[in-house]
Amino acid sequence: MTSRYAVFGHPVAHSLSPRIHRAFARQAGTTVDYNLIDVDPDSFGDALLAFAGAGGVGANVTLPLKEAAYSLASSSTDRARRAGAVNTLTRNADGWAGDNTDGAGLVRDLTERHRLDLRGRRVLLLGAGGAAHGVAPALLDAGIDSMIVVNRHADRADRMVDALNDPERASSRYWDDLGTIGDFELIINATSAGREHGKFQLPFSLAKPRFVAVDLSYGEAAIGFLAWARAAKAEHAIDGLGMLVEQAAESFEQWHGKRPDTDPVYAELRASSAVLRTGD
Ligand code: ATR
Repeated sequence: MTSRYAVFGHPVAHSLSPRIHRAFARQAGTTVDYNLIDVDPDSFGDALLAFAGAGGVGANVTLPLKEAAYSLASSSTDRARRAGAVNTLTRNADGWAGDNTDGAGLVRDLTERHRLDLRGRRVLLLGAGGAAHGVAPALLDAGIDSMIVVNRHADRADRMVDALNDPERASSRYWDDLGTIGDFELIINATSAGREHGKFQLPFSLAKPRFVAVDLSYGEAAIGFLAWARAAKAEHAIDGLGMLVEQAAESFEQWHGKRPDTDPVYAELRASSAVLRTGD
């Protein structure tokens, strides 16, 4: 039976993952059977079973299924456990092994593509949903100085910070206090606010001179936050396209044993009309 791969999400029609994985396979001189599967959280378990029955051996998981994927996985890597979310599932004899490559993808994009040194940076993480959970552990591991997590619903930020279990460096604050919590060298938007509407107003007092702004989204969803960042004089305003390509490369390597060259795939997507030029 053909080995099948897919990205599960809801909605998922606009996902670039099939295009990225097919491009990586072409680089390796092969092809890959990689498709989109749109499924809501209630049907995800059944859909995964059907996928495995049809030859499914690897799956990427996107919104809003990453926490459900963590629950459905029969085993998880340490970084997936710390994130409480899974974006990569690999079929084995026991079921599905879960991993989370989002954080590693973000750190690789920032440190290798954008040549940023994350060590010692004071970080503001906006949001405490699935996207924020995915990247927070990797940022701490990358040697940042501290991370303040701010979420509209404060209890979610509190729970996330408790789970990070690094009280010296990770703490939470109220959204209403954003104007009085000081300034930051790295500000990451992990909220889904940009997917709902374009505007994003934050106090300019958050912006340390020459700060770096990162939106984990790309395309239209990243426009509002990155426009604020440029108005606040960010030295770099980076969208999530590079992270998307890098997390896909991590999955591809796990499944096929080959590390893809991400630069040409990133450049092709950036140049394509399907992706707005939102980031640096
Ligand atoms: P994702 O997987 O993209 O993180 P999610 O788990 O639904 O999606 O989380 C969405 C995040 O965006 C949450 O942090 C949410 O804040 P709440 O937990 O308070 O709902 C945040 N968010 C969504 N819309 C927002 C808005 N208009 N302003 C600020 N934060 C917003």
